Amino acid sequence: MWLTHEKTVLITGGTSGIGLEAAAVLASQGARVIIVGRNAGKVSMALGVIEARAGGLPYGERHRPVSYVCDFSSLRAVDQLADAILRDVPALHVLVNNAGSVFARRTLTADGYEATFAVNHLAPFLLTQRLLPLLRASAPARIITVASARHCKGTMDFTDLGFERGYQILRAYARSKLANVLFASEQARRLPDTLVTSNSVHPGRVATNIWSGAPGWAKPIIRYWLSRTFITVPEGAAPIVALATRSDLAGLTGQYFDRLDQSEAAPAARDPEAAAHLWRESERLIQAALPVHGGPSSGRLNIS
Ligand SMILES: NC(=O)c1ccc[n+]([C@@H]2O[C@H](COP(=O)([O-])OP(=O)(O)OC[C@H]3O[C@@H](n4cnc5c(N)ncnc54)[C@H](OP(=O)(O)O)[C@@H]3O)[C@@H](O)[C@H]2O)c1
Repeated sequence: MWLTHEKTVLITGGTSGIGLEAAAVLASQGARVIIVGRNAGKVSMALGVIEARAGGLPYGERHRPVSYVCDFSSLRAVDQLADAILRDVPALHVLVNNAGSVFARRTLTADGYEATFAVNHLAPFLLTQRLLPLLRASAPARIITVASARHCKGTMDFTDLGFERGYQILRAYARSKLANVLFASEQARRLPDTLVTSNSVHPGRVATNIWSGAPGWAKPIIRYWLSRTFITVPEGAAPIVALATRSDLAGLTGQYFDRLDQSEAAPAARDPEAAAHLWRESERLIQAALPVHGGPSSGRLNIS
């Protein structure tokens, strides 16, 4: 197993669903686990669950799960989260970009960006860039971005990334998940030595809270779906655990996984020009929201 008790894994969205489950499994296998959540109460409950599932602290106090509270709808908060992690955490071997959300109506973040795109793509983009020096210093290391098979329905309209026209919950979600796949592969292209790898994964259709932001009229339909066609949370977390631990995946980068299988992403997600364009646009949007990152000489984003 690649991930041993000497290694540290950080999982965003570690308070619920597949993020919490993956954190509990990895902790029980001996990894040092850090979770990030947006709600302090849920974060502390999740820490209790993770510790209990690991059977206490069989690997000692150094393996006590650690948490940070951060709302990904604020790029400033994500930036401060990165500052805190870089200050506190000596080594990081796996970063799991898992937090995700949907919004029934078009919602703008405090930074003025469409919330699905901001929470699901811009926040993990920023967090990853800020944590890259730590990942590089801890290499070999892995970046795992939890995307979705929904990415194949996504479009990347660079003239209207925030859906000023034609917002619809599923369209916005699909765009954000297409952005996840494009980001993961462009990140891999920018790390050619493969000491730090970057892959994306569709965990399967999992019975979690992800659709809690759906409109009220859709909820009975979603509940029906969930009970009939969706896999369990442990089954949905298994691909994250596999990507974090499997020795045979060492050095493998720029790939898309459909659950446990290396797979081919949709054509729109394999377009290197779109990936590069999205990267530039993401940098621009972050720099506009966080002027401290603005000057090319600031180096704070560590864009490679
Ligand atoms: N479930 C599926 O069928 C499915 C399919 C494909 C892909 N995925 C992806 O899997 C990932 C995990 O989702 P899940 O299914 O496990 O759903 P979930 O149970 O709703 O978990 C989502 C996690 O993200 C956190 N989160 C949401 N908004 C946030 C914000 N603004 N700031 C910080 N954290 C935030 C949630 O925090 P709270 O606990 O505070 O809500 C929760 O910990 C998502 O990226 C999702 O797109 C899920």
